[in-house]
Order: sequence, then C-alpha cells, then structure tokens
Amino acid sequence: MEEDQLFMRRCFDLARLGKGKVNPNPMVGSVLFLGHKVIGEGWHKQFGDSHAEVNCFNSVLSQNRAKVPESNLFVSLEPCCFHGKTPACSDLIIEKKVKNLSISTTDKTPKVNGKGLAILKSEGVRIQTNILEELGNWFVKVRTVFVTKKRPYIILKYAVSNDGYLGQPNKNIWMTNPISKRLVHKWRSEVGAIMVGTNTALTDNPKLNNRYFYGSSPLRIVPDRQHKIPASAALKDGTIATWILADGKKESSPSKNLQYISLPDGAAFLPALFDRLVATKIDTLLVEGGATLLNSFIDAGYWDEARIFETAVVLEKGIPAPILKGGNEVVEKIGSDRLVIRYREG
Ligand SMILES: NC(=O)c1ccc[n+]([C@@H]2O[C@H](COP(=O)([O-])OP(=O)(O)OC[C@H]3O[C@@H](n4cnc5c(N)ncnc54)[C@H](OP(=O)(O)O)[C@@H]3O)[C@@H](O)[C@H]2O)c1
Ligand SMILES: [Zn+2]
Repeated sequence: MEEDQLFMRRCFDLARLGKGKVNPNPMVGSVLFLGHKVIGEGWHKQFGDSHAEVNCFNSVLSQNRAKVPESNLFVSLEPCCFHGKTPACSDLIIEKKVKNLSISTTDKTPKVNGKGLAILKSEGVRIQTNILEELGNWFVKVRTVFVTKKRPYIILKYAVSNDGYLGQPNKNIWMTNPISKRLVHKWRSEVGAIMVGTNTALTDNPKLNNRYFYGSSPLRIVPDRQHKIPASAALKDGTIATWILADGKKESSPSKNLQYISLPDGAAFLPALFDRLVATKIDTLLVEGGATLLNSFIDAGYWDEARIFETAVVLEKGIPAPILKGGNEVVEKIGSDRLVIRYREG
C-alpha cells in the first residue's frame, strides 16, 4: 500500500509540470511500473496536446514495449473515455493490453465521471482506485469546479490592516511587504483572469499585470457601468487583453486588446460574466478587491478560496474588510505579513 502511494506521488510530481499550461484541462501525471521498475512516465504538457497516458506509453523504450501488458499503469486521474481534442485514453489502454490500472480519483467531467473506469473494467482491466484520493482531488479542484459548477474557480485576494480595514476611500494605500507583492504576481501568472471593482480602478489605477514573476499576465476585468474610468487609466492602456464591463452604450476601443462587454444588471451580472469566461475557456478568476466587489462575490456564495494578507499597518478608520466565514484555514508567515488561505468546503 505504501508503495502504491509512493508511485502515485510520482504521478502528482509529473502532473505538476503542467501547471498553468493545460487549463482548462486538469494537470495529470502517469507512470508505468514493471515490478518495482519504472518503464514509462508522462504528463499532460499543454492544452490540446496528448494526455499523460499517451506520453507515458510513448516514453517506453523499444526493449520494454513487449512488457507493457504485464506492467501496472498509475494515473493521477481516471482516464478519459471520449474523443475530445485527442482520442480517448481508455481505448489506448485497451489497445496496449494493460491489465492493471491504479488511479487516485475519478474525473468529475460529466462525460467521464466513472465511465472511463467502467469501460476498462468491462474489458477485464483490474482497477485500484482512491490512492491518496484527497490529494488527487486537490490537484484537479480547478477542473472540478469548472465542469461541475460551470464557472471559473474563484480566488478572493485582499490585504487587511491590523485593525481590520481594506483601505480608505479615494486613497491609494499600500499595506503588504515586497515579498507578498511578488507572490501576488506569481499568482497572477497562474490564473486566467483578474478582476477589480470600479472604485479600485479609479483610486489605485492598477496595472493588474504580472511584472515581478515569470510567465504571462491574465485577462484583466473591470466593471465600469457608469463609464467613470478615464481613457488614461492603466487598465485601458491596451497592453493586455482587458474586458470593460460597461452597460449599454458602446465605447470605441483604441486597441484590439480592449473589449467592451455589456452584461445584465443585478444578480444576473456575475453569472453572465462566468458564462463569458467559461465560453472563453478561462477556468480561474482572481478577485483583487475592493470591498464592494469582494462582498458581492461572498454574498452570492461565489468563492472557492480566499488569500488574505493580514498586515502590520494601522489605519484607524476606513473601508471594513470583508468578513469570511467557514473553510479550512492554512496560515503562512511572510515577513511582516501573515498570509491566511481559506479553502471553502464543498
Ligand atoms: N486592501 C486591499 O487588498 C485592497 C484591494 C483593492 C482595493 N482596495 C481599496 O478599496 C477601495 C475601493 O473599494 P470599494 O469597496 O470602494 O470599491 P470597489 O469594490 O473597488 O468598486 C465598487 C464599484 O465597482 C462596481 N461593482 C462592484 N461590484 C459589482 C458587481 N457585482 N456588479 C456590478 N458592479 C460592481 C460598482 O460600480 P458602480 O457603482 O459605478 O456601478 C461599485 O460601486 C479603494 O480605496 C482601494 O484602494 C484595497
Ligand atoms: Zn485522456
């Protein structure tokens, strides 16, 4: 059993190599063991490219190919069973005559969700499931939200003063330390989209790009229903794809990167935004404040994770930080800041 966990951990290590490159597909890793020897390894490297199982079989050296049917295939996620961008992995496993398959968790994509395993079982493949299942589910949590809730995985992010404020109206106040700032830029490199409220765009004039870490910058989103954000705002500089959620009247776009999108008002606003994001295959949304925007997500129950920097700054008065209840808390010290990450249950 311990050995199975060790092999599955190797699958997770491989899966992790696809981080930020495979979205909205899940990160998946796969290993072929013959006895105690690894004869193949693969992972899903890039969205649209071959799946982990295909790369794993392809990595087997010619002298070991005849032994594939006797080996045990470990995959961090249930093999797919439909022809999407690539052929079904369940068909490939049958074709390779693999007799033993071990997985961590099922793929919650409605077209799969146990069907991949059922097909393989009906072909006589012995299947072992639930190896480090909790960790396996954690690896595909973004995908699971994307396919079951049909919205992006939502991460709320904000900094709080020592006395519980998010900031002060019309004042650009920096609260976190430079290391936390760099970490936020790393997070920006890992998400598909980032959003702030209208007042934050006006007060802080943020660039919302990734300047302090490797990788790309996400799509920027800002509501501007009353057309308050000036053309000179950093968010309108046209350097990165940006959605301005402006009601009704169309504004001319000075750049092809700038897109004006009209969405319904009220409770339908966020679901309509999620539909647009899902249609654009964006599976993660980082919401960076301010309080009004964050509270609109919290009140509607639209969050999966919150990353809160508790800082040493004292403001004495200002805009109260959102109150978040529930979730499992993980705390990390980052110099003078305390980073609290809450994972919502269910
Ligand atoms: N500490 C931090 O981490 C942090 C982060 C960001 C900002 N801040 C600070 O927070 C302050 C701004 O916060 P704030 O609460 O005043 O404003 P905000 O959340 O940035 O913006 C609020 C405005 O955005 C629009 N909006 C927000 N949610 C919406 C929704 N669900 N649907 C449609 N429109 C929506 C509305 O604009 P309209 O009324 O025009 O329609 C609303 O009045 C600034 O001082 C800023 O510096 C702090
Ligand atoms: Zn597959």
